[in-house]
Amino acid sequence: MSRIVIVSNRTPGKGPAAGGLAVALKKVLGEREGFWFGWSGKLTDSPEQKARFEDIDGLHIAQIDLSPDDHRAYYSGFSNSILWPSFHLRLDLATIESHWYEGYRRVNAQFAKALMPLLKPDDVIWVHDYHLIPLASELRSLGAKNRIGFYLHIPFPTVDALYAIPHHGELMRDLSRYDLIGFQANRDVAAFTDFAEHQAPSTFGTRPTEALDFSKTEVAAFPIGSDPEAFARLSNSPAAKKMIHRMHRALGEQALILGVDRLDYSKGLPQRVEAYEKLLANNQRFRRNVHLLQVAPPSRDTIKEYQETSDTLDAICGRVMGRFAEPDWAPLTYVKRAYGQPSLAGLYRLARVALVTPLRDGMNLVAHEYVGAQDPENPGVLVLSRFAGAAEIFPEALLVNPFDTDETAEALRMALDMPLDERKARWQALMAAAETHNVDDWALSFLERLSPGIGEAGAGARDVIYMASVA
Ligand code: F6P
Repeated sequence: MSRIVIVSNRTPGKGPAAGGLAVALKKVLGEREGFWFGWSGKLTDSPEQKARFEDIDGLHIAQIDLSPDDHRAYYSGFSNSILWPSFHLRLDLATIESHWYEGYRRVNAQFAKALMPLLKPDDVIWVHDYHLIPLASELRSLGAKNRIGFYLHIPFPTVDALYAIPHHGELMRDLSRYDLIGFQANRDVAAFTDFAEHQAPSTFGTRPTEALDFSKTEVAAFPIGSDPEAFARLSNSPAAKKMIHRMHRALGEQALILGVDRLDYSKGLPQRVEAYEKLLANNQRFRRNVHLLQVAPPSRDTIKEYQETSDTLDAICGRVMGRFAEPDWAPLTYVKRAYGQPSLAGLYRLARVALVTPLRDGMNLVAHEYVGAQDPENPGVLVLSRFAGAAEIFPEALLVNPFDTDETAEALRMALDMPLDERKARWQALMAAAETHNVDDWALSFLERLSPGIGEAGAGARDVIYMASVA
């Protein structure tokens, strides 16, 4: 039976899994043979070439350390100051220092060198996200013949934004070394196909180059999901109830409008608060009757653009407070801290409206989780950016253009005024979509396409685990 090897920059830690990626893949690997490979989170001046294995929560995890210089160039530099802003169409926020590319490639080569000796010939390798685009090339140059798939968790850029990325030709060549590339949404497949079909030879430097050959690479959309039933259960857990109780005490009868996002410029947080400001400015009746809670754990805060986003958000929240707060009423709370899933599930359950308005987003699992956590008899309303991949899955949300804060303010008003029947009808459609696109099916469909028959191996492994625990 083929093993599954998952490779990503971060690996699951000992505490509760933070990102959607960790939550999703932990489940896949918990049910199948294989291991997870990635960076240990540690920086050391001369990292060992060999990976260290550790068992965390029943998962086999192989990790390597990185040197501080390589990590800076690979993670804060090329991945998050060039690829991230460009893929999110924020070229204005990209910092282009071309030497970072060397560090990015060095780390990918280091990953490949440490991973190669751990591989068996029939292992199926599943590489995740923009940090590791060159990994298949590096593994293949060391002789790997395995099936290798790549999944991009963020949006794929338009052709023009792609051309602005240094070494984009090499990166696209790297993508052609995968057997399967999975994207979040159909729009990403279309953007990729646009590039693949109309590659401009002039973009590959001064040397005459041949067009890239993607004929051996399958490309498809595999929209990631969550586990909506698990969120439904979590929203009734003691920790969720405690959070609901705490919030009830603080809010009384006020309707809660909730945002939960990493503190990232792609999430459109200043625009969101501005839309809320317009709601309060245009509709006096909501003052003292609604409250915006924005949960925004800090992220990548060594990068200047992230610090600036944080400052902008501080300023705009302060402005809204100054404009509308009264001695005994605050229009919003802004929390720069991460919460565990049970507490979040409680907040989702209580929120009358979820404001999920990224300027651009791969999928957005907060939208899925919010839907999963709703009370079927009294569900809240999802206000969703049409530029999140989730908009393709959830057309019954109130879809908005997050750049248009008047439109978002009006969607907020509609959400707050929406009668119960309409809330229920919309939520039922959203929940059906969240169940269809659940995380198990996402992983299985990707793995099945990468290596037909491997999904059944997963079902077998699940049976074995079940029998063992019964015995
Ligand atoms: O979803 C994109 C992503 O980069 C994931 O790969 C990652 O787990 C998450 O965002 C958080 O980002 P970071 O690992 O940079 O903190």
